[in-house]
Amino acid sequence: MNKETLVEIAQAMVAPGKGIIAADESSGTCQKRFDAVGVPCTEENRRAYREVLFGTRGLEEYISGVILFDETIKQKTADGIPFPKLLADKGIMPGIKVDAGAKKLAFHSEEKVTEGLDGLRERLADYAVLGARFAKWRAVITIGPGIPSRACIHANAHALARYAALCQEAGIVPIVEPEVLIDGDHTIEQSYEATSATLKKVFEEIAEQGAFFEGIILKASMVIAGKGAVHQSTASEVAEATIRCLLETAPRNLAGVVFLSGGQSDEQATAHLNAMNQRGGSSWPLSFSYSRAIQNPVLKIWAQDHAAHVDCARDALLFRARMNSLASQGKYSEDLEKNRPY
Ligand code: 13P
Repeated sequence: MNKETLVEIAQAMVAPGKGIIAADESSGTCQKRFDAVGVPCTEENRRAYREVLFGTRGLEEYISGVILFDETIKQKTADGIPFPKLLADKGIMPGIKVDAGAKKLAFHSEEKVTEGLDGLRERLADYAVLGARFAKWRAVITIGPGIPSRACIHANAHALARYAALCQEAGIVPIVEPEVLIDGDHTIEQSYEATSATLKKVFEEIAEQGAFFEGIILKASMVIAGKGAVHQSTASEVAEATIRCLLETAPRNLAGVVFLSGGQSDEQATAHLNAMNQRGGSSWPLSFSYSRAIQNPVLKIWAQDHAAHVDCARDALLFRARMNSLASQGKYSEDLEKNRPY
């Protein structure tokens, strides 16, 4: 492990005006996304769709890195260029999802624990050879009656910490992602409590495992009322509660914080990130690592006609990337959506 290199990579991931595209949907998740737009989820379709994303000219102006899935990091363009090379050649760092998914937690039927530590050291070494500069591990925390339990938070925090340490040992920057789900009718206060308890435990475990914070990116969920809540949070409520929660729990020397979109609409996810950056007072760069909120329009357009709509799909990607880049600097405004190319 070279500490300086890890810090350089982590800082480049959250360089001013830049964020990350999460394109690491597992084949199962891809199936759901493709089903929704009527595209058969074949290996070739997954490859072709990712080529649309990664081949977008000018993407590097707004995007520092792309998170890939095991299948994707080994795939190539139609012309035979490996995806990690295609990205790296234009200055976008390839990353890799390394967890094996969230599985049922024993004795806690409503909760999950993320698996994937077995053999992780060897897999990380292989991914480093394939060009991965950073990795991602997602834990899932559910809010409901009596949950999240301490058992769920502790099990997931411990796994995230062991993953983070293994990544740094391999010279790969860990994105640590404890996602508190937006599903449910919980209040923003309940979201705050669950997020705060989770982050505290995650950073305690990371410190115990000896990983160093300057070489870690936190991928956080925003503190926000559940999708089914009577009172839906305003952008300023989300910004205030999320920043307060992060300041209360996250180490000041963390390299940066990126957010997942978690089922928020494209515009909401952008507006919330913008509100946080306009508010200021955070100790870290706050940027994005969206999957759905950046890819939704792209997939819809491409699904209509794969061959004829590639340019339109790429315009949509570039537009959302630019909107989120502006939001990461507090320079976005809803008015800009009028210029949407889709
Ligand atoms: P969403 O932005 O769709 O929540 O996905 C982000 C992600 O990478 C989840 O692990």
